[in-house]
Amino acid sequence: MAKMSFLYLPLVFSFLSLFIITVNSISPIDFAALRQIRNSLTDIPSSSSAAARFFSSWNFSSSAADPCSSFAGVTCSPTTSRVTILTLGTGLSDAPGLAGTLSPAVSHLTELTQLILFAGIVTGPIPPQLSYLHNLRVISLTNNRFTGDIPAGIFSLPNLHTLDLSRNHLSGELPPAMPALNNLKVLVLANNKLSGELPRLFPDHLLHLDLSRNFLSGTLPPHMPPALRYLSVANNRMWGGIDNNGGLESLSELAYLDLSANQFSGPIPEYLFRRPSISITSILLQRNNFTGGVPQSPSSAVGSTVDLSHNFLTGELTTALVGVEALFLNNNHLSGGVPEEYVESVEAGTMKTLYLQHNYITGFPMEVGSVLPDTAAVCVSYNCMSAPPLGMAACPASAGVQLSRPAAQCSAFRNNSSSISTSWD
Ligand SMILES: *[C@@H]1O[C@H](CO)[C@@H](O)[C@H](O)[C@H]1NC(C)=O
Ligand SMILES: *[C@@H]1O[C@H](CO)[C@@H](O)[C@H](O)[C@H]1NC(C)=O
Repeated sequence: MAKMSFLYLPLVFSFLSLFIITVNSISPIDFAALRQIRNSLTDIPSSSSAAARFFSSWNFSSSAADPCSSFAGVTCSPTTSRVTILTLGTGLSDAPGLAGTLSPAVSHLTELTQLILFAGIVTGPIPPQLSYLHNLRVISLTNNRFTGDIPAGIFSLPNLHTLDLSRNHLSGELPPAMPALNNLKVLVLANNKLSGELPRLFPDHLLHLDLSRNFLSGTLPPHMPPALRYLSVANNRMWGGIDNNGGLESLSELAYLDLSANQFSGPIPEYLFRRPSISITSILLQRNNFTGGVPQSPSSAVGSTVDLSHNFLTGELTTALVGVEALFLNNNHLSGGVPEEYVESVEAGTMKTLYLQHNYITGFPMEVGSVLPDTAAVCVSYNCMSAPPLGMAACPASAGVQLSRPAAQCSAFRNNSSSISTSWD
């Protein structure tokens, strides 16, 4: 029996190698497409070792190994020998990335499910032909220099799960709706030059939406995807109120909200701070035109970052935000004394940052000589305390150099305030 199987071995081997060659040899269509893609891109020369050059393994000579097994960044389907994943660039932090343009020939890779380009200086348009690639689930072309509009066809790719075109020079407007993107979970278009208004309808299953650092204007849409966990439109030109915005109020899963550096106005709604079913990580509303008071009712934003600084908030501090880990209320028009619970929270190490500088606050109930934890950053400068209990050591440079606000600006607040009993006056 042993002899028999020995005799069969060569046959088995030749069958195996035949199998490997036919199955693993890349489809001629994809081979030609990869050659065109290669011809329009190049490694940015780098002083570091040749190993950092992405294209060093891309050898198109007919006697070279099959691209499916030998080209960096190319993954093929074992059954069809078509390219399914194309990852361009090494992604190594010391590699400068690729330059050139992305060839429209990428659209010949019709079984492509993932197209990823690592950071570099690839420029020119995003090929509109990408819209032919109906199997695409991931498009990530972040941190390059693509220009022009986002091709409209991308917004009709039915299987798209992740679209990340952030950190490019893309301009133009977004479509009013994206009804075909039933599977889209992640949409990141931050750091571009997009203008116009936000779509009125985003895909229903979106979890992560980042449109920050563009030139977008207008109001938030009245309906937002209900499962949204991350929403940033920071650093745009958006305006309008958010208190009667059913869109935001219905987002019970929202853990991260960044509306900072826009011109949103009106009151800051309580519901933002009351989402007990999730753990809120950040509520960033700084540098807007919000008015009214700080939240009144106890907040579920425990252990989070809450930044309401640089607005037009008035009234006195409530205890609603004592559980927050980093609280920024500086540069508002807050008055009255700070509730003792804040000092206790800082002393207990729960609250690590408390910025109250540049308000009209009349008292911070810390006993003279008591010491806050080393890790705490508490700044109360430029307020209306007759004897500020803390110096400027923990204040940011932007707080300026004056420990107290000029008395003339404070008289109105001192006279009107009834809650100074716990403080210094
Ligand atoms: C490409 O592969 C062929 C065949 O293996 C080899 O002779 C040639 O040197 C390779 N070219 C480069 C640039 O590595
Ligand atoms: C926001 O406030 C700034 C400064 O007071 C003002 O110039 C601007 O018009 C306000 N924008 C809106 C939309 O209210």
